Amino acid sequence: MTPDLFDAAPAVPSPAERVRELHRLLHHHAHRYYVLDAPEIPDAEYDRLFRELQALEATHPELLTPDSPTQRVGGKVLDGLMPVRHAVPMLSIETETDTTAAGAQSFDARVRKALGLTDADPPVAYAAELKFDGLAINLRYEQGVLVQAATRGDGETGEDVTQNVRTIGQIPLRLNGCEAPVLEVRGEVYMRRDDFEALNAKQREKGEKTFINPRNTAAGAIRQLDPALVAQRPLSFYAYGLGEVQGWVVPATHAQMLDALQAMGLPVCEERAVAQGAAGLTAFHEAVRAKRDALPFDIDGVVYKVNALALQQQLGFKTREPRWAVAHKYPAQEMLTTVQAIEIQVGRTGKLTPVAKLAPVFVGGVTVTNATLHNEDEARRKDVRVGDTVIVRRAGDVIPEVVAVLPEKRQPGAEIFTMPHSCPVCGSAAVREEGEADYRCTGGLFCSAQRKQAMLHFAGRRAVDIEGLGDKLVDQLVDSGVVKTLPDLYRLGLTALASLERMADKSAQNIVDALEKSKQTTLPRFLYGLGIRHVGEATAKALARHFGKLDAILDATEDQLLQVPDVGPIVAQSIHTFFQQEHNREVVEQLRACGLHWEEGEPSPSAQLPLAGKTFVLTGTLPTLSRDEAKDMLEAAGAKVAGSVSKKTDYVVAGEEAGSKLDKARELGISVLDEAGLRGLLQG
Ligand code: IVH
Repeated sequence: MTPDLFDAAPAVPSPAERVRELHRLLHHHAHRYYVLDAPEIPDAEYDRLFRELQALEATHPELLTPDSPTQRVGGKVLDGLMPVRHAVPMLSIETETDTTAAGAQSFDARVRKALGLTDADPPVAYAAELKFDGLAINLRYEQGVLVQAATRGDGETGEDVTQNVRTIGQIPLRLNGCEAPVLEVRGEVYMRRDDFEALNAKQREKGEKTFINPRNTAAGAIRQLDPALVAQRPLSFYAYGLGEVQGWVVPATHAQMLDALQAMGLPVCEERAVAQGAAGLTAFHEAVRAKRDALPFDIDGVVYKVNALALQQQLGFKTREPRWAVAHKYPAQEMLTTVQAIEIQVGRTGKLTPVAKLAPVFVGGVTVTNATLHNEDEARRKDVRVGDTVIVRRAGDVIPEVVAVLPEKRQPGAEIFTMPHSCPVCGSAAVREEGEADYRCTGGLFCSAQRKQAMLHFAGRRAVDIEGLGDKLVDQLVDSGVVKTLPDLYRLGLTALASLERMADKSAQNIVDALEKSKQTTLPRFLYGLGIRHVGEATAKALARHFGKLDAILDATEDQLLQVPDVGPIVAQSIHTFFQQEHNREVVEQLRACGLHWEEGEPSPSAQLPLAGKTFVLTGTLPTLSRDEAKDMLEAAGAKVAGSVSKKTDYVVAGEEAGSKLDKARELGISVLDEAGLRGLLQG
């Protein structure tokens, strides 16, 4: 037998080889999952590989290394955090507090002066990035393996938080293609806003104290002594710089350095640019300001860094800050103000929400005068009282919130807040049901606040769309007693409208026209407009599609309702109860009698629809179809339209200027259609 034949036999890997292969696979898939948000394999397959590695390590302890993916969890509870002296001090950045464009200009002027440049010289190139609102961390990699993570501390000495940092899935335990003896990567550990909101929602559910903001929560988590607790706090990371480096050739510019870190598998924020001169910086500052609320995490400004490392060296340092970098702020997302009153708002479904009326305060870029206190328990836990000085937070599209009280500023005699037991608007009893966090007004449509909200909802753009029927007009109509029920709206004559205070003849005519126009609607819009609890747009569409006709829905049993996709027991019960009530049926009949109409179809249980069970994502601008039109067409064919691309997406429909969703679709190998492709698919 020749040795060749031996080699051809299927090679069974040795345990050491298999462990190496599992490391490679698990690192690769963790990167796809946590950093690129684009997994290639199902979670269950990842878990299987992970368990295989755990089993091998248990039987061969000598094969267990610190960069093993199994080492992310399971660290010991510590007595305290050990000090770590930074090989290269962690500096701070000078802050430019002028939030206008002038902030960027004065930094550029300082840099040019220090470099001895004149007006005749070309603009300086800057690396512009976000100023993440978290805490700075130094990650030390030796031979490409994460060996230590430390907080900034006082800049000279920080604390060892290695085992906590290991729990952050986004942070690679081993770098891709870098085995340098020492590479220290610096960056920010932060918490995404959606992760923060979800964490607080859980706290509220458990009746526990909520966290103040993502920054404090991330900072608190990273300094925890028990890594198991840290693993329950979803943290994220972005790299933005270097510490000590040995045996790695640092690229010539900051931007190239970030690209190199990204290629090693470290998360680097995509929201970065190379900007030319003051004009480039100002444009970046403006562009980021415009999208600040839409970012998934908090930032408190942007950071500009001279791009060329050679120029950075030439500029050097002041005592603790480099001359080559500056942080350019935005208006703060948290501010102090005082509570002038606590009012109770009544929602469309009767929910009573305590709202703090605040001394006006500029926060997160807008002037805020109201902030939600959520519910009784939350208001009590925070112990907010009239007269208190409070911290208000407004970040992203989340409604402004009172996040904490400054107890030391409380005036003597301030009274504890209690929820009223009757509706402040209609006087009906307000009850809090067992297991519920909210008080509800029991007045139903007898309550003018609920009626007003119900009308505004019915008139909304996504419901029957009565243009011009805003809250001021609804207040006038309801308060004057002219309109008591939804159908009353359609009985309004021009004279009645024109006789309202501050109503010009022309506006009255516009409302009459808008009411007339709204009569021609669709069944889903009408159903959604009724404001049945738990019936959003998607459910309304599903109901219309499934039953075809309104009468079939009015008479459906709970069991029949449960046949509709996405309708569970709570929703089915809510719909059934709504239509069982005589006054609700009466409203529906009267609206029909007033002339509201729509096309009715044949029942089409979803399974028969051509695109049933398929998920689509729309991105970019299509040549002829608007986003809403494409969505409607897809939903009519039984498809679901989602907002973001994941492995569950079946098709991405991309038009002009499609952005990251298209990139992600390509990465995940998802079919991409243009408008023609979409039409083709819809035609079957
Ligand atoms: S660079 C020498 N870049 O801001 C420059 N810092 O005072 C060192 N920060 O606590 C820092 N985003 O954690 C840099 N893109 C960014 C940053 C950033 C946030 C934080 C950093 C530190 C503070 C600097």
